[in-house]
Amino acid sequence: MNLQKTAKIWHNGKFIDWDDAKIHVLSHVVSYGSAVFEGVRCYNTAQGPAIFRLREHMQRLQNSGHIYRLDIPFTVDELCQASLDLVRTNNLSACYVRPIALRGYGDIGVDPTGCPVEVYLACWEWGKYLGEEAMRNGVNICVSSWNRPAPNTLPQMAKAAANYMNSQLIRMEAKANGYQEGIALDVNGYVSEGSGENVFVVVNGSVSTPPLANSALPGITRDTVMTLCRDLDMPVAEQMIPREMLYVADEVFLCGTAAEITPIRSVDRIKVGSGSRGPATKRVQDEFFSITSGTKPDRYGWLSLVGVSAGAGVR
Ligand SMILES: Cc1ncc(COP(=O)(O)O)c(C=O)c1O
Repeated sequence: MNLQKTAKIWHNGKFIDWDDAKIHVLSHVVSYGSAVFEGVRCYNTAQGPAIFRLREHMQRLQNSGHIYRLDIPFTVDELCQASLDLVRTNNLSACYVRPIALRGYGDIGVDPTGCPVEVYLACWEWGKYLGEEAMRNGVNICVSSWNRPAPNTLPQMAKAAANYMNSQLIRMEAKANGYQEGIALDVNGYVSEGSGENVFVVVNGSVSTPPLANSALPGITRDTVMTLCRDLDMPVAEQMIPREMLYVADEVFLCGTAAEITPIRSVDRIKVGSGSRGPATKRVQDEFFSITSGTKPDRYGWLSLVGVSAGAGVR
C-alpha cells in the first residue's frame, strides 16, 4: 500500500503544501503517542464525490480529544467544511480523509498541557484495505495472542494514536503467521475487535457484535451495520461473544471505514460456516455499497457531497 501524495493538506485553518506538513521530532506526540485521529472515506457516488458519515467522524474526533483533555480549536461544523474543501481542493473523487489533532512542540515532559494542539486534515486515494478479492471471498484471520487494553487503562472509546501500538502487535502477529487480520479478545477473554475493525457474528439469522465495554471502538461502520440490519429486519444486538462463537457462528464479518464490510472465511484455520461469504454478510454488504455508491437513496443523510458548498449543519 503506497501513500499517494496530493497537492494540499489543511493545517489549523489553512491549506499548505503536502511536503510542508512536517513536525519537529521532539513534538510531544512523537515520544508519547499523544494524538487523536479519524479515518473517513469519500465515495465516488452517482451524485459526485461524497464523504460518508462526516459529521459522526468529526464528533468522534472531538470526543476522543475531550477524553484526553485535548481541546480541538475547531467546531464539528468547521472540521466538516474543511474536509469537503480539502477533497475539492485536491480534486479527488474516491479517497480517504485523515483528520488528526496532535500535541506539538513545546514541552518534553509527560504533561502535555504546555504543548500546542495542531490539527491537520489530509486525503489521498486508497483502495480496498484487505483487497478487492476479500470483499467477495472473505479473509482468513486468527485470534491474536494480544488482548485489547483492559478497561481503565487506555480508553478504547477514544480513537487515540497510542491505542494503535496494540493494534500493530495484533496486525504484525497475524501477518507473520500467514493471516490477513487478527481479532483480539478483551482482558476477560471475550471477543473485542480486530486491529482496525469491529467484528460481527451471525448465528441462526441473528447478528451480534460485542458491546463497547468489551474494549471495542464505537465504530461508525458498526453503527451503520446495526442500522442497516434493523432496516432489513435482521435481528441485531450488542452481546458479549465468547471466543469459540467465532468458530461455530454461521458467519463472521469485520467492518470499519478502511475494511468496509469484509467476510471471514476462517478463524485460526477453522472454517466459518461454508467457508465463504454468507447470505447475511452479503445482504448487509449490498445495502452498504448501494448507499455509498449512491445507487440507493441516502435515506439517513449519511453522505456529504463534496461539490456542494455547505454551511452550518453540513452532513
Ligand atoms: C480499532 C478499531 N476498531 C474499529 C474500527 C472501525 O471504526 P470505523 O467504522 O469508525 O472506521 C477502527 C477503524 O477506525 C479501528 O481502528
